[in-house]
Amino acid sequence: MRRNSLNHVALILDGNGRWAKKRHQPRIFGHQQGAKVIKHLIDYALNDYVKYLTLFCFSLENWNRPQAEVKFLHSLFYQKIVSKKTLDFFLKKNICFKWLGFKTKLSKKLLDAIKLLEKKTAKNNKLTLTIAFNYGGRQDLDSKKRISSFLPNVDLLIRTGNENRISNFILYQLAYAEIIFEKTFWPDYTKKTWKQNIKEYHLRKRRFGAILPKK
Ligand code: IPE
Ligand code: MG
Repeated sequence: MRRNSLNHVALILDGNGRWAKKRHQPRIFGHQQGAKVIKHLIDYALNDYVKYLTLFCFSLENWNRPQAEVKFLHSLFYQKIVSKKTLDFFLKKNICFKWLGFKTKLSKKLLDAIKLLEKKTAKNNKLTLTIAFNYGGRQDLDSKKRISSFLPNVDLLIRTGNENRISNFILYQLAYAEIIFEKTFWPDYTKKTWKQNIKEYHLRKRRFGAILPKK
């Protein structure tokens, strides 16, 4: 099989709420399950030698959700991603952690924890894991100095949850990304789903606007 290079995979994690609703559970239950899947995803990416993994976890538009849900998403981000517990995991797996987002409305406690985690994992170089939290792509492009400028072009964008849109994610880096709209709700995403997505990506013919020579 012809293989495309796979340097940067970005994901829009969607479908947590509907996953929970299907089970007659509150939406936050879906977010909780969804957060657990992230750790597995990191392993899939590491096994496939992906160098950049970027996850959209909270958009600037997500502030428009009920306050209790917003609060829950923020506490999940703190507990599951930036707390000290995660540091060991990142060090063990040689992962460089990066946060992509705007400081507005985030607590000092959260910002300090992010800063510390970034500092302690800065030298790791197997995978750069970027969590987009409190992020918006247009606001980024409109800012004086793009806050996402450390990210390379996205090769593959996967959006779960059966929605076909980009939702103000890293617009600049997505310019030539291959896009897969995956029907699976995020909490149901497994290694099998990942393998299927990666297989489909390698079957795509990436031309970047040029014409491929005949074989
Ligand atoms: C994605 O799941 C999680 C975030 C955007 C934080 P949703 O909460 O959007 O789930 P649905 O789309 O309502 O199913
Ligand atoms: Mg959604």
